[in-house]
Amino acid sequence: MTGEVSIQAPPIIDIDVPLPVPPRALTAQEQSRLQTEIKILLEQHNAVLIAHYYTDPEIQALAEATGGFVGDSLEMAKFGARHPAQTLIIAGVKFMGETAKILSPEKRVIMPTLEATCSLDLGCPEQAFSEFCDQYPQRTVVVYANTSAAVKARADWVITSSIALDVIDYLDRAGEKIIWGPDRHLGRYIQQQTGADMVLWQGHCIVHDEFKTKALKQTMAQHPDAAVLVHPESPAEVIELADVVGSTSQLIKAAQTLSQQKLIVATDKGIFFKMQQAAPEKTLIIAPTAGEGATCRSCAHCPWMKMNVLENLATVFDRNDVEIHVDPVVAERALVPLTRMVEFVNR
Ligand code: 13P
Ligand code: SF4
Repeated sequence: MTGEVSIQAPPIIDIDVPLPVPPRALTAQEQSRLQTEIKILLEQHNAVLIAHYYTDPEIQALAEATGGFVGDSLEMAKFGARHPAQTLIIAGVKFMGETAKILSPEKRVIMPTLEATCSLDLGCPEQAFSEFCDQYPQRTVVVYANTSAAVKARADWVITSSIALDVIDYLDRAGEKIIWGPDRHLGRYIQQQTGADMVLWQGHCIVHDEFKTKALKQTMAQHPDAAVLVHPESPAEVIELADVVGSTSQLIKAAQTLSQQKLIVATDKGIFFKMQQAAPEKTLIIAPTAGEGATCRSCAHCPWMKMNVLENLATVFDRNDVEIHVDPVVAERALVPLTRMVEFVNR
């Protein structure tokens, strides 16, 4: 009898959860009153606001106006770790708050709502992922930052889309074979670009998964002079139409440097706030999520990012359901691959 291992395909996890109800739109007066209130509270509490590119423009503007930060998930984590404030307010989704807490355990990390999750995180439960990894004991486990602390604790490496190609290329050159989770589109893209030997978990982002090839081709035909910018969490056929494929920061940089005056952008439209700042003279067009077979559950704006609003930000210091806590054993294990990620960037 040989010790044969039967390899099971990764399970498909049902992430068909009810999406949060979109928040009420505020009047300009309400917005301005809340922004003033929050500015005062940040100073009183020695707190800094750190927002993701996908949050709504008024949240990003407030972070900038108060000496905080707007960036991608990697930059947010690095900014939080080096900023002297004792309280970090993370406007984004829960995995970003957890990463900030693990990298800065001595700080208080709070979020406008802890219910802001991510479909990649939801689609990659720790136990199922761990069982999948157990089938490939010789492989290096690399996970996307868009995962829970418990999944990170199971990993050898954590990476974000801004460094995904570099890290996998580095591991591939070192002869390592890889387990990748959770995003199947990003995984396939990295595999194709690097030629690395990867087995993929089958998660997806409900926002990027919705970009439609046929409708995108129509938009491209309407704007033949436009460049197409695509985040690699999008389906392969959408990536194939791209002039530039990249993480949020890389797409913003491309918007600045590309010669085209019109840009069709396939990522969360929250990015337009910083992209337009970076390239004020350019016309930005969101890639279509409508068309044949479309469900348009997100319409190119993450329903969980949208949960970060001025109203819950203004009450963040009064509530006791906003603080991020990570089990210390999980945090200690997750710190290992997170530190590897930060050291890889700083090397
Ligand atoms: P970044 O790592 O580029 O910030 O992207 C995070 C994310 O949620 C993409 O959908
Ligand atoms: Fe997650 Fe997609 Fe939202 Fe990013 S845009 S936080 S990957 S659901």
